[in-house]
Amino acid sequence: MDAAGLAKILSPEGWALLSALPPYDEARTMALSDRLRREGIDPELVAAALTQSRLRAKAHAKFESFADGMLFTPAGLEQATRLTVAAHHARRYRAAGVTKVADLTCGVGADSMAFAGVGLAVLAADTDELTAALATVNLRHFPDAEVRHTDGLTLDLEAEGVDGVYADPARRASGKRLFDPAAYAPPLDSVLDLRERVPALGVKIGPGVPHAALPADAETQWVSADGDVVEAGLWFGPLAPDGPGRSALVLRGTSARVVSDETDGEAPPVGAVGTYLYEPDGAVIRAGLVAQLALEVQGRLIDRTIAYVTSDVLHPSDAATGYRVLDTLPFGLKRLRTYLRERDVGRVAIKKRGTAVVPEQLRKQLDLRGPAEATVVLTRVGGAQQVLVVEPL
Ligand SMILES: C[S@@+](CC[C@H](N)C(=O)[O-])C[C@H]1O[C@@H](n2cnc3c(N)ncnc32)[C@H](O)[C@@H]1O
Repeated sequence: MDAAGLAKILSPEGWALLSALPPYDEARTMALSDRLRREGIDPELVAAALTQSRLRAKAHAKFESFADGMLFTPAGLEQATRLTVAAHHARRYRAAGVTKVADLTCGVGADSMAFAGVGLAVLAADTDELTAALATVNLRHFPDAEVRHTDGLTLDLEAEGVDGVYADPARRASGKRLFDPAAYAPPLDSVLDLRERVPALGVKIGPGVPHAALPADAETQWVSADGDVVEAGLWFGPLAPDGPGRSALVLRGTSARVVSDETDGEAPPVGAVGTYLYEPDGAVIRAGLVAQLALEVQGRLIDRTIAYVTSDVLHPSDAATGYRVLDTLPFGLKRLRTYLRERDVGRVAIKKRGTAVVPEQLRKQLDLRGPAEATVVLTRVGGAQQVLVVEPL
């Protein structure tokens, strides 16, 4: 959508059309578009409204029914923080006693909506004119939220009465993901400099950031949402009340679990595969907290270099997926095929860690047919390639 499309959507006729459209159904879009045009509605408005309808339907995954009152661009939606995660960002500022947040790179405004939603005043900025306009629409219910079409780094934070700063720099250029924080827009270092002026600074960055590149004074928190690692956040000053370090926030359905390091730097034990296997959540792995998980489930690593934990007694964890171990065999195609065929397994879920095996290829090579199902884990145990046959708990 361009500025002209947005203007049409924002006209009384446009907003009414968008609100009156039936739930988005890809298969019916053509017919619907034809009908609306035949009824004499401006074809550009029809196209813009159908685009918004499609984006709103897609946005339900991040914003649930809030999406139905929002406007998006494809890139703005792609880059937007999902509302559950944004709510956790906002909570930090609230808990730190911040009253006014500058969201330097607001995009379509998802984080700003969460800030405003917990009662904070918001000054939001975006250098992209259309994006800033969409954020203005998306924040319309919040009288204490203002959006400016400007470079967020040029905001006069002191004069604006800002006591908390948030930035989610763009990490894509020409459709490609950027991994170098110096290439972010704006560059990470120029955002980090702001903590000299406003100590309550939070910055969203890519979850692949190497630990060596992390600022020593930040709490870095990796976040996963329903199994996907979605971001890392750098939190400074009062936004990190427990001080610098690494943590994981594991969001699954309505549950939220923070994992932080309580191991006192002790290496986890390594030992034989026990009755239970735990696959740590991706955020826990990225945060380097597998040892913490081992401590939590009173378990041990199956291999010093592999992020699987095992235990003899079950200690369910909301930061890991648990399995019961049914069998352990040395890895070999023939042996595994025989094992599975003897048990009439036709469908096999293959998990792997620390092995070059390609699950799809292996599945073909196994050539299984039968009514039973199985889950196998291909990994290294004490340095040797092994197959663990497991069942999800
Ligand atoms: C990752 S998106 C932000 C998404 C936002 N947090 C949300 O949840 O909707 C980054 C945004 O930063 C904007 N941007 C890049 N450089 C900027 C700058 N110097 N000042 C303000 N905005 C900037 C881009 O136009 C883009 O919309």
